[in-house]
Amino acid sequence: MRIGTPLSPSAVKVMMLGAGELGKEVMIELQRLGVEVIAVDRYANAPGHQVAHRAHVIDMTDAKAVRALVEKEQPHLIVPEIEAIATDELVRIEAEGLARVIPTANAAHITMNRERIRRLAAEECGLATSKYAFCSSLEELEKAIDGGIGYPCFVKPVMSSSGKGQSKIKDSDQVAKAWDYAMAAGRVKQARVIVESEIKFDFEITLLTVRHAGGTSFCEPIGHVQVDGDYVESWQAQPMTTAALEKSRAMAKAITDKLGGAGIFGVELFIKGDDVWFSEVSPRPHDTGLVTLVSQHQSEFALHARAILGLPVDTSLRVPGASAVIYGGMEAKGIAFEGLAAALSVPGSEVRLFGKPEAFKKRRMGVALARAENVDEARARAKKAAGSVKPVAAQS
Ligand SMILES: Nc1ncnc2c1ncn2[C@@H]1O[C@H](COP(=O)(O)OP(=O)(O)OP(=O)(O)O)[C@@H](O)[C@H]1O
Ligand SMILES: [Mg+2]
Repeated sequence: MRIGTPLSPSAVKVMMLGAGELGKEVMIELQRLGVEVIAVDRYANAPGHQVAHRAHVIDMTDAKAVRALVEKEQPHLIVPEIEAIATDELVRIEAEGLARVIPTANAAHITMNRERIRRLAAEECGLATSKYAFCSSLEELEKAIDGGIGYPCFVKPVMSSSGKGQSKIKDSDQVAKAWDYAMAAGRVKQARVIVESEIKFDFEITLLTVRHAGGTSFCEPIGHVQVDGDYVESWQAQPMTTAALEKSRAMAKAITDKLGGAGIFGVELFIKGDDVWFSEVSPRPHDTGLVTLVSQHQSEFALHARAILGLPVDTSLRVPGASAVIYGGMEAKGIAFEGLAAALSVPGSEVRLFGKPEAFKKRRMGVALARAENVDEARARAKKAAGSVKPVAAQS
């Protein structure tokens, strides 16, 4: 790999589709390597816009808008940071040789839809998963549950992320509500859901898996806590049995080999004793992997940047670490944060404030990170640091 000079004809140009907090960190890593970075998001002044060479605001689900921007900017690489993209257009762009999509256009296309990725994992790779069915009406949903999925179960739009439109239902009274909720919140107006039986796991992990020029490498497992389908706390390394770790790696290898290409993948797995179930996979840095900013020598963002440029990677753990989310806590624009000094006086702590222009009660506005001698202490520190940061309304 040869890297030129940004903003000159020799530049290696990377276009990030999605410029949130995860994309922002990838952009910083790319810029450290002298890459020219173009940030794209659906709203102005997104976190990644603030650190890129150029920033654009488009509707990334609009195929025409995506193509027009790619033709204008002529990036070498297109790096999706989110799922909600016109991925069929990315498939065409890649096929025409306009740009290389990370990890591949097809991988982005498959993983944005729960039906495609679940069928690939369970039916083609033979990975263990929850029992599941796909339904296009309330009647089909009721039939699938009564016909074997049972209660409790999870209902999710086939196209959604971060827990949007997702419900856990415990009995038949709740099915209609879950269907309506999925219909209202799905990303695309498509009447289709996955219904999954509940896996009663001991804990769940994200196994960050990197496909790079030298092969496939795994990070130490990341444990996390989810509330309403969104992560609130994560830590690395999650202790688990050797058998479960070996199975996890084999499952991650199988699915990422099928998806192909170069870059980092967040493989979500449920663990009970020595048993492992595949849940889903994202072909990009994972939100629970923010912890790697403190716990690894090369964060998941640095790993992604290196892998997509064809450079060597080191996935080793540096020190036990944890992350805890800082929420907006209010609906307001241009908010401020107090308590940073208190947060950063927690030993081994760090804070990232993402710079999002608008806060919502449950919007992730920042994250506290902490390292320690062990995971329990790291978690306690991260939570303490996060709790010390106080969002406040801007003074007028
Ligand atoms: N079949 C299941 N059995 C047990 N728990 C589940 C099941 N499906 C989902 N969950 C719980 O809900 C969480 C979110 O589910 P899932 O990852 O499918 O949603 P998502 O919208 O893709 O979330 P994200 O985008 O944050 O990964 C899981 O991490 C897990 O805690
Ligand atoms: Mg998930």
